[in-house]
Amino acid sequence: MYVSGLFRVGFRSVWLWTATAYLCNLHGVLYGIGELFVVSVTGLGPIADAAGIFALGTGAGFFTRHILRRIIDGDLIECQWKRQELDDGLKAATGELGEIRPQLISLNKLRDALTGEEDELWRLHAVEMPPAIASALAQNLPKIVTVMHLKGGVGKTTTVANLAAHFGKKGKRVLAIDLDYQGSLSRMLMLAANIRNKDDPRAINLLSGDQDFAALQRQVISLHPTLENVDLISCGQTFDRFENRLMLRWLIGDETDDVRYRLASALTSQPFRDSYDLILIDAPPRLSTGAINALASSQVVLIPTVLDRLSAEAVGNFISRLNHFRPMNPALQYAGVIGTLRGQIGGADVKEGAFEIAQ
Ligand SMILES: Nc1ncnc2c1ncn2[C@@H]1O[C@H](COP(=O)(O)OP(=O)(O)OP(=O)(O)O)[C@@H](O)[C@H]1O
Ligand SMILES: [Mg+2]
Repeated sequence: MYVSGLFRVGFRSVWLWTATAYLCNLHGVLYGIGELFVVSVTGLGPIADAAGIFALGTGAGFFTRHILRRIIDGDLIECQWKRQELDDGLKAATGELGEIRPQLISLNKLRDALTGEEDELWRLHAVEMPPAIASALAQNLPKIVTVMHLKGGVGKTTTVANLAAHFGKKGKRVLAIDLDYQGSLSRMLMLAANIRNKDDPRAINLLSGDQDFAALQRQVISLHPTLENVDLISCGQTFDRFENRLMLRWLIGDETDDVRYRLASALTSQPFRDSYDLILIDAPPRLSTGAINALASSQVVLIPTVLDRLSAEAVGNFISRLNHFRPMNPALQYAGVIGTLRGQIGGADVKEGAFEIAQ
């Protein structure tokens, strides 16, 4: 009994140690010690073996399942976090896409307009003259005249200066507005009125969108009494930059109002209507922001030209371009074409030909 018991202990010890060692070293050690004790004390070798192996297998299985579950649970939680992050990212990206899409459309439009003609830029957004401006212009109080031609050096500025001096002398309250950053009209009139000329583009205030029209009207430069009854809104170098920035902001939709009517809003406001009978605008030889505002706020446009065939042809071209802007100011009329200077190939025939072409 003792010998066979010893033999069984020895035999079982070998394979049990081997079998359990690879499952779990610690469990193997404990089981081996327990087995030795049970066999030697009770002699219940096979039953103890079966119970021990069952307990060991269950314990190892439980232990393995527990560990695996923890690993899987951990991975699952991580996966859920990742999914939440992705969902959040997707939501944010969808929201941003919704915001970006209209900007993208307007940028594409802007790109097309920039690569097209200058006129197209100003027709990028739909236009409708505000009814208040239309009805104020219809009353002709004050009369607003733009002197304009896209050809340079044809006498626009000289015409405005002379008309202002003439009507001022006749007792009309005249406002001359310089919208050309070259500031020629400002220099010409201020020199005539002995006012120190400094670069002071007050025209910026007219297009800035400031709604305090009474304050804007008070910013005029009075040329009285040297130039009787004449006020001036001056222009200068920085006006150019201001105009470009304003146009770009409007094109990309950063301005909430229609910047094409800013001058019109000011000139048809009560403070200006109460102060003037005649407003003369000197426009630049470009379709700048100022020029577009001048066209949108005038009842008539006057076109000076040099009296030669080429200049007269340019008048026709200018008028057909102006017609593109008719929806902006449907009531705008052509007051006529003024011959200011004679062409280099002077003479009566050239003059006659020019008038015919311009007609
Ligand atoms: N009727 C005229 N008689 C003689 N000289 C004139 C007449 N009109 C204009 N000039 C002269 O022609 C030149 C150009 O005139 P002005 O500056 O008025 O043209 P403009 O069309 O306003 O030019 P820009 O396109 O550069 O604004 C000036 O030297 C001016 O003195
Ligand atoms: Mg000029």
